[in-house]
Amino acid sequence: MAETVWWKRGTVYQVYPRSFQDTNGDGVGDLKGITQRLDYLAWLGVDALWISPFYPSPMADFGYDVADYCGVDPLFGTLADFDELVAEAHRRRLKVILDFVPNHSSIAHPWFEESRASRENPKRDWYIWRDPAPDGGPPNNWISNFGGLAWTRDEATGQYYYHAFLREQPDLNWRNPAVREAMHEALRFWLERGVDGFRVDVIWHLIKDEGFRDNPENPACLPGEPEINRFVQVHSADQPEVLDVIAGMRRVLAPYGERVLIGEIYLPIDRLVTYYGPDLSAADLPFNFQLLQTPWQADAIAAVVEAYEAALPPGGWPNWVLGNHDRPRIAARVGEAQARIAAILLLTLRGTPTLYYGDELGFGHVAIPADRVQDPWEHNEPGHGRDPERTPMQWDGSPNAGFSEAEPWLPLSPDAVSRNVEALCDDPGSILTLYRHLLHLRREQDALSVGSFRLVEDRIEDVFAYERAAGEVTIRVVLNFGAEERAVPLPEGRRWTILLSTHAGRARTKLSRQAELAANEGLVLLAEGS
Ligand code: NOJ
Repeated sequence: MAETVWWKRGTVYQVYPRSFQDTNGDGVGDLKGITQRLDYLAWLGVDALWISPFYPSPMADFGYDVADYCGVDPLFGTLADFDELVAEAHRRRLKVILDFVPNHSSIAHPWFEESRASRENPKRDWYIWRDPAPDGGPPNNWISNFGGLAWTRDEATGQYYYHAFLREQPDLNWRNPAVREAMHEALRFWLERGVDGFRVDVIWHLIKDEGFRDNPENPACLPGEPEINRFVQVHSADQPEVLDVIAGMRRVLAPYGERVLIGEIYLPIDRLVTYYGPDLSAADLPFNFQLLQTPWQADAIAAVVEAYEAALPPGGWPNWVLGNHDRPRIAARVGEAQARIAAILLLTLRGTPTLYYGDELGFGHVAIPADRVQDPWEHNEPGHGRDPERTPMQWDGSPNAGFSEAEPWLPLSPDAVSRNVEALCDDPGSILTLYRHLLHLRREQDALSVGSFRLVEDRIEDVFAYERAAGEVTIRVVLNFGAEERAVPLPEGRRWTILLSTHAGRARTKLSRQAELAANEGLVLLAEGS
């Protein structure tokens, strides 16, 4: 087990580069800033950083609109800065994962400029062009993920192009082998520079229905939901041929050794697990967003963990995500006390954890005044914007929280003066200390990183309990999702030591027969004789 590949043992930490650390005083984070903060990540105890896009981009979707797959936008620095970041990360035994955005480019990418130039252009078929419907309208009923039609008519040639996101993000045609080859080249470019893997943006979108059939209406869509939910996306995404495309990417990574391919996939569990591919040939880790979507109740979470574990293909490695730049902060959703339960869950379930920057400080919802809104989605569909979870990292109590000398691109949380790394790092009762202890415990204990998983069958109201085991070591996790105290029976004839609690001061206490949990308390227990 000691030889298990790093991305199974390790924890991934997502950095949103605009918001991590600014070094050139423009209010936007940059690559040098990330390099400057690597010591913090090493101290915290994570193993890899995934960096959201920093490629040259008009920033219509803050970098998820790529104008050059093999460069660095001057806003973030230079390729030399990137090389330095990788070298410095590796010096600290931290892996570097890039965000690869192959489903769509920017409208400003030279490929699209060529493609739209004429119907005969050799790159015409690199994107998805269709004639208007007989009435002159769009070719079908597909909706953009950011609201409105997913088709834009290009006056010059009279055809529509497809964009699953903004009109500034035209979808590439992955049925065209030349597109695949160009994208593989881009992957190799970064592999040669030493990156340890990729998180592939909206990987389940890459192939669309060949006949471009209309999506069926979604009767379950409620008022107030984003417009995209009006239809079930059965034809615009999640097509069987996509697995072959992903396997193609894996083949590009293979000669480089232990590199990881993570796929961003928002699908129900039964569909999600198909993305491991036949014989595990597709994604190493199809991102599992169940913790972001499940009601925060012990029974619901236990059910989802059980269903996910049961659905995994043989040899398929699990993973868990608690937050990202597209979803409300976990502490905003479940409250401050339960955010600690979430931390234990993320770092003790079986599978690779992905932690979103700032969640280790307990970042909550940051209200964004109307005149500071940045996210195009908020402009299109108010109330759905993602700015509240993208605010700057809070390093210390100085003005701008040590993030920048200038006014940050998004406002800081009003609690930045007290909720910051400097203030929390030595506080034994802080959420940051809890995260750090969990990360270090996970490193020390094979049972937690690569051990087996077993649900504890006897259910106590509001409590979710499970065991992790490796060799002689058994670890039991008991989590109180409720606001009342709970007494949880422990198996007869064994004694347990508290390795860690959400509540400071209980570590190293011995228990037998039962664990008394305070409201919102979680415990990690080591069985005696382990
Ligand atoms: C998913 C990314 O996480 C999100 O931020 C982005 O807007 C869309 N894909 C489009 O690239």
